[in-house]
Amino acid sequence: MKVLVLGATGDQGRAQVEAALAQGHQVRVAVRDPERAANLLPPGIEVARVELGAADAGEEALARAAEGCEAILANYPSSSFNDGRWLVGAAAAAGRAATRAGVGIIIFNTSLPQRERLMGFAAHDVRYRMRLALMEAGVPVVTLAPVVFMDNLLRGWAFPAIADEDCFRYAHRPELEVAWICQADVASLMLAAAVRPQLAGSVFRIGGPETLRGAEVARRLSAAAGRPIRFESQSVEAFCEAMRPQVQRHEPAEAAHLLEELGRIYRWYNEGPERPFSVDMAPVLEQLPVTLTPFADWAGRQLWSRA
Ligand SMILES: NC(=O)c1ccc[n+]([C@@H]2O[C@H](COP(=O)([O-])OP(=O)(O)OC[C@H]3O[C@@H](n4cnc5c(N)ncnc54)[C@H](OP(=O)(O)O)[C@@H]3O)[C@@H](O)[C@H]2O)c1
Repeated sequence: MKVLVLGATGDQGRAQVEAALAQGHQVRVAVRDPERAANLLPPGIEVARVELGAADAGEEALARAAEGCEAILANYPSSSFNDGRWLVGAAAAAGRAATRAGVGIIIFNTSLPQRERLMGFAAHDVRYRMRLALMEAGVPVVTLAPVVFMDNLLRGWAFPAIADEDCFRYAHRPELEVAWICQADVASLMLAAAVRPQLAGSVFRIGGPETLRGAEVARRLSAAAGRPIRFESQSVEAFCEAMRPQVQRHEPAEAAHLLEELGRIYRWYNEGPERPFSVDMAPVLEQLPVTLTPFADWAGRQLWSRA
């Protein structure tokens, strides 16, 4: 297959590029800065320049980039911190571009838990509208809605506490059960969907093979790191405060609103009766046959101290 990856320079897109290459597919990426992408991504891929912020939301450039590709793996930047109308417009443009280029299928990674209705949370609802916008032009779309990524523990908002304080600090209440999934498995599931056009229109909520509470994650981290790591349940308020640098480019009132929204959706993740972070993968794996990575195996492959 030849696949076009959108958002390839982000964490999730990069994992998809690597997985696609490992499976022997040809990979093209659509990025804003080809030179930066060439430095970030593995060799052996084609790089096309596409600016989603252009007046046509990148449609013309995307249609050219998608020429000859059977599938598009679509990843987008945050729907918490970017303008929702812009993101929905970019998705609509991608759908039209895919139609023009004769692409067979689009696999949409919502990057966040999804329910198949508007929920009143901006970050969630923008993704919901993006899915509809992608589908509008008629190309088959399969949507994958992942829960929380194991890889988050290597990022700036979690890793320093693990490395420096032996503390897995996360905005999850102690009893919250989470089906952590690694980004490599998200990539495998997306590629499995890409060769199953009969699944067009489906939305799969996806997670990892186990559902774990914070203390259970900490035990696995301790085993992987070879030292005790404790779990500390961070309040949603403290988490939002830690995310303040993400909204600094916005006007103060808008920044305050975005952080308030972030708090609302994190409270839903923690307390929502829909249990957004729990997933039963058995029925999903019947349709997308992939071997999922247990948390302990993933954690055992990472470095849990500063190099
Ligand atoms: N479920 C979870 O555990 C979890 C964890 C982390 C993040 N997320 C969610 O995942 C999503 C993406 O996160 P990410 O960190 O992987 O993505 P990201 O790096 O912020 O964005 C993905 C790609 O979009 C492009 N992009 C970013 N900002 C853009 C802009 N202003 N205009 C045009 N293109 C832009 C970039 O590509 P180019 O620069 O190459 O064009 C980038 O590689 C977010 O919605 C976030 O909330 C979920």
